[in-house]
Amino acid sequence: MAETVKDGIAERLAQARRRTLRLIEPLSDDQLNRVYSPILSPLIWDLGHIANFEELWLVQTIGGREPLRGDLGGLYDAIEQPRRIRGELPILSADEVRPYLDEVRERTLEVLGEIELEKSEDPLLRGGFVYEMLLAHEHQHNETMLQLLQLVDGYEPPEDEAPPSPAATDGPETVRLEAGSYEIGAGSLDEGFSYDNERRRHAVELTAFEIDRSPVTNAAFAEFLAATDSEPPQYWRRDGSRWVRTAYGREAPPDPAAAVVHVDFHQAEAFAEWAGKRLPSEQEWEAAHDQLAGLGQVWEWTSSEFTAYPGFEAFPYREYSEAFFDQGYEVLRGGSWAAHPSVIRPSFRNWDLPQRRQIFAGIRCAWDA
Ligand code: AVJ
Ligand code: FE
Repeated sequence: MAETVKDGIAERLAQARRRTLRLIEPLSDDQLNRVYSPILSPLIWDLGHIANFEELWLVQTIGGREPLRGDLGGLYDAIEQPRRIRGELPILSADEVRPYLDEVRERTLEVLGEIELEKSEDPLLRGGFVYEMLLAHEHQHNETMLQLLQLVDGYEPPEDEAPPSPAATDGPETVRLEAGSYEIGAGSLDEGFSYDNERRRHAVELTAFEIDRSPVTNAAFAEFLAATDSEPPQYWRRDGSRWVRTAYGREAPPDPAAAVVHVDFHQAEAFAEWAGKRLPSEQEWEAAHDQLAGLGQVWEWTSSEFTAYPGFEAFPYREYSEAFFDQGYEVLRGGSWAAHPSVIRPSFRNWDLPQRRQIFAGIRCAWDA
């Protein structure tokens, strides 16, 4: 039994790594090193950071081993090194980072072979928490890498790394939730992996509201632009009387039926107001999620600031969530086409600053019933 659990973890770690490497496969060293945007790391930093985070948790913390290169930890610390300066750090080069990824992984698998997963009292190991955290970490960095890749001229994404065409939805266009008490958040870790910011599960009182079943489309957002003269989404450029998208340095018309993406919180709010609606709170979103369509297309801005739930306890480190509470970050719910399916769950809370458009974020509207 223990062996199958470990084999499953090893296989999922390998899968995550295959995606990471496939995303960067077509890139030159120059493209890996290049700073495309002050708010996004060069890809070379993400690669070293993915390996270094794995070394810190799965080799040093769990395995009690010394790091391969003791000087690296500080350079890949996301809090110490803000994104805008990551291009200037003496980090591993493209030639050095691949062997580092491999050597860390080799040690990770050695440690995994040695530990007692099942009977462990260590909260990091119980339920395989630290391995789930590592997997989620690499998946989330793959999404940030895809954000940066939008800026790489001529980049050919792997075939399955593109937004799917939206499925037509039948049934009512809106969902109504009655006033009442709703359970929000993730249960204890014994019920499965969640981040500290999703706990504890708690009840909230909501007044009656309605919410759109589908996210706002490109067609609807274009109508809003025509009526209001507002800012277009990132990667939209006016071409005479129509809009074109410019991601990957290629021009293509936005799919009218697809969810609008790369809008910031203020644009989302302005759209909702124009439509006579508002953004849902994250509690409303979660209470309604199982009746919503179009999940997993785009992250959806909510009206909620990123704050701690009642009874919050930082685990396993303050810098994952707690450092971002009450700092003006807005919560996004759902998940985008670029997010790994295992990241997408009803209680998952993403966050970013309200002026940010580089994330794969769109809009779903709600209103008081
Ligand atoms: C949850 C996406 C806001 O990118 O800052 C990656 C995820 N945390 N490494 C981020 C994360 C540490 C985080 N977000
Ligand atoms: Fe990280």
